[in-house]
Amino acid sequence: MSLLDDIQALRTAATEALGGINTADALEAWRIKYLGAKGMVKSTMQRLREAPREEKPALGQAANQLKIALTEAFEAQKDKLGAAGAKAKTSSVKLDVTLPGNRPRIGHSHIISQTVSEICEICARMGFEVAYGPEVEDEHHNFIALNIPDHHPARDPLDNFYLYPGAMLRSQTSTVQIRVMENTQPPVRIIAPGRVYRPDTVDATHSFMFHQVEGLYVDEGVTMSDLKTTLDQFCKAYFGPEVATRFRPSFFPFTEPSAEIDVLFHYDDGSTRWIELGGCGMVDPNVLRSVNYDPEKYTGFAFGLGIERMVMRRHNIPDIRYLFESDVRFLHQF
Ligand code: DAH
Repeated sequence: MSLLDDIQALRTAATEALGGINTADALEAWRIKYLGAKGMVKSTMQRLREAPREEKPALGQAANQLKIALTEAFEAQKDKLGAAGAKAKTSSVKLDVTLPGNRPRIGHSHIISQTVSEICEICARMGFEVAYGPEVEDEHHNFIALNIPDHHPARDPLDNFYLYPGAMLRSQTSTVQIRVMENTQPPVRIIAPGRVYRPDTVDATHSFMFHQVEGLYVDEGVTMSDLKTTLDQFCKAYFGPEVATRFRPSFFPFTEPSAEIDVLFHYDDGSTRWIELGGCGMVDPNVLRSVNYDPEKYTGFAFGLGIERMVMRRHNIPDIRYLFESDVRFLHQF
């Protein structure tokens, strides 16, 4: 058989073989067999050297056409296979732009921050503005103006993070009540979310740092029923309209009378339990006097709720440490 016949036969065989290919691996094997550096097209070209001089131009042309035709057929077949055929390479750059990339993990705000935003939104609907105060406080704002005298156990050095004489990490957000009233005249209607610090031993329900949201409403004629309605509505807005609330008599130096607010939760096993959310009460006249408000003219209510407690109840989180250990596998759920 002449070289020209061989070229034609090679073209027919290669084209037929190509038509039956439907995987990337088979396509690559085909490319190596026919178009590769040691492939059959190449070896056919090498045989041109042995051909008689007068036949060379025609044979050369036929060989070139063979190479072009097979290369084009290969590209066409690769396109037909789509992404599956993309593995077959046409150049030395081994880059597959059709493979999915490494998706960067998208961050989002911490569940505590999300909850603070939600609380602010609920309270804004009831007319409360948001106020902030410093986390490094003085004893006047953390204790004295709040009617907490020198001998009170809440001021024990073992129960507070004192920094240097006169300064401490605030142990409650009630400090912001004083700071706002010092700078505004009634009516005052604010909430103050933020971090507080106490040297508690860390366990499933305690942390040396946690979050509270403080509320304060002072005006003429504010009563305890305003307090109960506001907190009841707040709990229903956050936990759902079916939750019940109850107020238990309690004591805080800065409120009189004082109460603790509990929310009734229903568990999957059918049982129910009252969970304490925080304290509240009518602002003590001594507190109003400390900021030069006239207690004969103004009354007010205040409350302080634990944000971690609310988050843990609503999302069924059994251990407060999960919130602060920054394991993204946990935090990513929210
Ligand atoms: N500050 C109190 C605490 O940390 C909580 C609290 C109780 C705040 C009664 C209030 C209140 O505003 O009226 O335990």
